Amino acid sequence: MCGIVGYLGTREAYPILIQGLKRLEYRGYDSAGVALFNGHLDMFKCKGKVADLEAIVGTAPSATMGIGHTRWATHGEPNDPNSHPHASNSGRLVMVHNGIIENFAALKELLSKAGYVFHSDTDTEVLVNFIEYIQDQEEVELDQAVRLALNEVVGAYAIAVMSKDEPGHMVVARLGSPLVLGLGNNEYFVGSDATPFLDSTKKVIYLEDGEMAVVSRKGVAVRQIASDLPVDAVIHQLKLDLDSIEKGGYEHFMLKEIFEQPKSIRDTVRGRLDMQTGMVKMAGLESISDALLEAQRILIIGCGTSWHAGLVGEYLLEDLARIPVEVEYASEFRYRNPVIGPKDVVIAISQSGETADTLAAIKMAKQAGATVFGVCNVVGSSIARETHAGAYTHAGPEIGVASTKAFTAQVTVLTLIAMYLGQAKGHLSAERAAEIAQELARIPAKIESMLDLNERIKTLSADMVESTNALFLGRGYNFPVALEGALKLKEISYIHAEGYPAAEMKHGPIALIDEQMPIIIVAPRGDMYEKLVSNVQEVKARKGRVLSITGMDEKEIKALSDAVIEIPDTLDCLSPLLTTVPLQLLSYHVAVLRGCNVDQPRNLAKSVTVE
Ligand code: AGP
Repeated sequence: MCGIVGYLGTREAYPILIQGLKRLEYRGYDSAGVALFNGHLDMFKCKGKVADLEAIVGTAPSATMGIGHTRWATHGEPNDPNSHPHASNSGRLVMVHNGIIENFAALKELLSKAGYVFHSDTDTEVLVNFIEYIQDQEEVELDQAVRLALNEVVGAYAIAVMSKDEPGHMVVARLGSPLVLGLGNNEYFVGSDATPFLDSTKKVIYLEDGEMAVVSRKGVAVRQIASDLPVDAVIHQLKLDLDSIEKGGYEHFMLKEIFEQPKSIRDTVRGRLDMQTGMVKMAGLESISDALLEAQRILIIGCGTSWHAGLVGEYLLEDLARIPVEVEYASEFRYRNPVIGPKDVVIAISQSGETADTLAAIKMAKQAGATVFGVCNVVGSSIARETHAGAYTHAGPEIGVASTKAFTAQVTVLTLIAMYLGQAKGHLSAERAAEIAQELARIPAKIESMLDLNERIKTLSADMVESTNALFLGRGYNFPVALEGALKLKEISYIHAEGYPAAEMKHGPIALIDEQMPIIIVAPRGDMYEKLVSNVQEVKARKGRVLSITGMDEKEIKALSDAVIEIPDTLDCLSPLLTTVPLQLLSYHVAVLRGCNVDQPRNLAKSVTVE
C-alpha cells in the first residue's frame, strides 16, 4: 500500500505535502515524490524516503497546489523512474496512485499502438496516459476524462490528478484503496487517511468506493464514477488523534496487522491461483521450473518466524509434491560447510528481505551452484535482488517487530509453490488441487470470523500474565505453529516459552509440568486430533493448565481442557493459516497486560541486518 497526499489552498503547498508524506510513511517508504502547480508543473521524485526527496528538492518552487506520494512497490522495482508522481506523455497531466491496475497490460498495448511511450514499469504511468488518451479522443474536461477512463479500468485505485490546462482543479477518485478529503478554511486536503492534514482540519469526507471528486477553490464536488450523478457527501468531524489514525484505530501496529490477515492473504493469492482448477500461475516459479522439477531436494532457509514458515513449507512440499525438503536456520547453514550443489533448489524466506544471515546463506548457495528462490515482503529488497527468482508476499508494510501477517502470507506462498510442484510432478491430482484452492479461497473469511474471538482471547490472556514459562504443543502441520506461538509470546511479553512436538513431551518437557505451567495445545480437527487429545490427558494427569485451540464443539477436548478457543475447520495442509491467529492474539494481549512495548519489544529490531 502507498500513501497519497494533495493540497489546494492559499498556503505554500510544498511543506504541507512533505509533512503529509512523512505521516504516511508507515504505509510505504521505498520511494517518494511531489508535483507542484503554479501556472506550470514542477515534479520531483526519487527512490528512498521522504527525507531523500527533501534533499533533492532543496528550496521548493512556490505553489499553492500540489500532490505527493510515498510508495510501497507492488509492480516495478523501487527506483527513480518508477517513483510517483507520473506525467502523461504530453506532460499535460500528472498523477499519484495507490492500488493495482489489473488490466494495465491491455491498456498499455492499446496506448503503445496509439504511439504512447513509457518511462517506467508501473501501472500508474499507463493509467495517467490512458486518461490523457481518453481526454484527447473525447475532447472533454479532466474530470470527465478521469471518469470515462476509470470506467474502463479493472483493479484498485486511489488517485489524484492535475492538468496544466486546468489550474486550480484537482480530480480524485477511489475504488478499493482509501481516500479522505479534508475541508479547511479556503483550503482543501487529500490523503490516504487523515493523518497528513489532521492539524489543519478535522472536517473530512471519506470518499466511498466508486466515487470521485473535483477539488477546486470553490470547494469539493463528489460524484459517482459510473453514473456521473452527484453525491451528497457526509462531512465527518474527526475525533481521532494522529497516532491512532496511523494504526487504523488499533492500539498497536501488531494488532492492526493481525486484523489485516484476511486482506493480506487475499492479496498474496490474487492473480496466482485458479480457484476452480487449483492451477497455480507464478512467473517466478516458471522462470526456474526446470531446476525445480529436476531438484533432488529443496532446502528452505530463514530466521525466526520465517524459519517457522519454512517448516510449514516442508510439510506442504513433502505432502503435496513429494519432494525431499530440509529446513535450516540461515545462520547455521552459512557456517556449517553444507553439502550443496547445482541439483539443489533453495527457498529463502524473509519478510524484510534484509536479514544478514539469510542474505549470506543465499550468496553461499549461489556460489555452490544451487538455484535460489526468494519469498520476500519488501519489493526490491537485497534478498529479492540477490535471488535468481522469487515471489512477493504482498502483505503490505509490517511495522510491528513481531511478524504476524507476513508469516501467514509466507505460508500462503509456500502452499502455492507446493500446489504448483505437486501438479507439475503429477503427485497432486486435479481434484485435490481444486479442493485445496477452493478451501484456500475460504480462509480469509474464516480468519475474519476468528477475529471476533479477540475479546474472549483478551480475557483468557489474563490467566497467563503472571506466568514465567509456557509450553506450546502441536503435531504435524501445527508443530511449526507451536514454535511460532512460543516465539510470539517470548518476544513481546518476555515470558520464557517453548514450542514442542506434542509427542515429544514424554521425552523430557513433561518434567516441567505443574499447576503453574500454562500449556497451549494446538489441536484442530484433523488427522492428529485423537493423538492430541491423549497429549492433553497426559498434561492434565500432571495438573498442568491446558488451553486448547480446537474445532467447534469438540466435547472430549473441551471436557479435558481448562479453556478452549474454538476455530473453524479446514484442511490439515491449510490449518496453520487458522491456528496461528489465536496464538498471535493471545501473545499480543498477554504482552499488553504486562505493560510491554508490543510494537517495539526490548532488544529486538524489525530487520536484523547484522550477524
Ligand atoms: C519474528 O516475529 C521476529 N521479528 C524475527 O524472528 C524475524 O522473523 C526474523 O528476524 C527474520 O526476519 P525476516 O523475515 O525479515 O528475515
